[in-house]
Amino acid sequence: MTVPEIRRVGVVGLGAMGAGIAQLAIEAGYATVGREVSDELGEKAYERIAHFLQRKVDKERMSEAECEAALASLSLTTELSAFADCDLVIEAVVEDLDAKLELFGALEPIVHRDAILATNTSALSVTEIASAVSTPERVVGMHFFNPAPLMPLVEIVRAELSSEEAVEAAFTVGERLGKRPIRCHDTPGFVVNRVLIPLLNDCLRVLDEARVSPEDLDTAMTAGAGWPMGPCTLVDLVGIDVHVHASEALYEKLREPRMAPPPRIVAMRNAGLLGRKTGRGFYAYD
Ligand code: CAA
Repeated sequence: MTVPEIRRVGVVGLGAMGAGIAQLAIEAGYATVGREVSDELGEKAYERIAHFLQRKVDKERMSEAECEAALASLSLTTELSAFADCDLVIEAVVEDLDAKLELFGALEPIVHRDAILATNTSALSVTEIASAVSTPERVVGMHFFNPAPLMPLVEIVRAELSSEEAVEAAFTVGERLGKRPIRCHDTPGFVVNRVLIPLLNDCLRVLDEARVSPEDLDTAMTAGAGWPMGPCTLVDLVGIDVHVHASEALYEKLREPRMAPPPRIVAMRNAGLLGRKTGRGFYAYD
């Protein structure tokens, strides 16, 4: 495969991660196509992006003209066919292997021959996702961190059959997005989640073991370990459901007890206390 210069970027799924990735793409000057399943969800993502860009204008980190130009380079769609001209499509849909397999299978006949397909999965195997297409060399992982516009890292994940060209093209895009990309292989949790998931689970177990409140645990880890935000605040930000899913996926692959989600957060997930996105997790949000 010849890897083209990346000029047009597609983002599938405009939830917190997808909207953040689309924001990065338009700020970096890419013509960007964002796809949601309904016009309403697309509008919600557009408003979220416009809000954060306006905050940058307010803080004089961006001019009005740059903000308008960035927003004008984002087109919203509900149709996968809108990705036909994209050189790179980044998938940020729900963390469900079947949903991703179906999506990649549907994208392959739409995108042009040399387009790269990237997944933002946190804990699923990029190699398994790539098995949905007949051209797995074009599939890589581009794993962003939450909140995507603020966190500097992107893990560029090489799956078993990823081509060198696809990996390097994704790495170059990561740099143009203003990130600090690293290259890694498709192992469970890649680099950060392999370490962070069991660490967060240890933190959450301490809630019960040490009979400490979420507020005090957060104070302990920010004031005593220098974390930028405490573990309860962080899991609320990431999403309790996302964290439980990532823990379960890593536990399934590695069978390390520390990977398994503590019962307390599984119960929270089952009760719909998903963190910021539902207004309630360890804390309540407006
Ligand atoms: N998208 C875009 N812009 C955003 C944003 C978002 N989601 N959230 C905030 N901003 C903008 C806002 O405009 C904000 O300014 P205003 O409040 O003036 O509007 C500006 O960024 C700065 O926000 P904060 O004041 O909240 O920034 P901060 O200095 O407190 O830092 C932080 C925020 C970078 C998130 C920091 O707290 C931090 O590093 N936290 C740790 C986050 C972390 O560990 N993330 C990884 C999670 S794990 C993961 O993602 C892996 C996975 O696979 C699940």
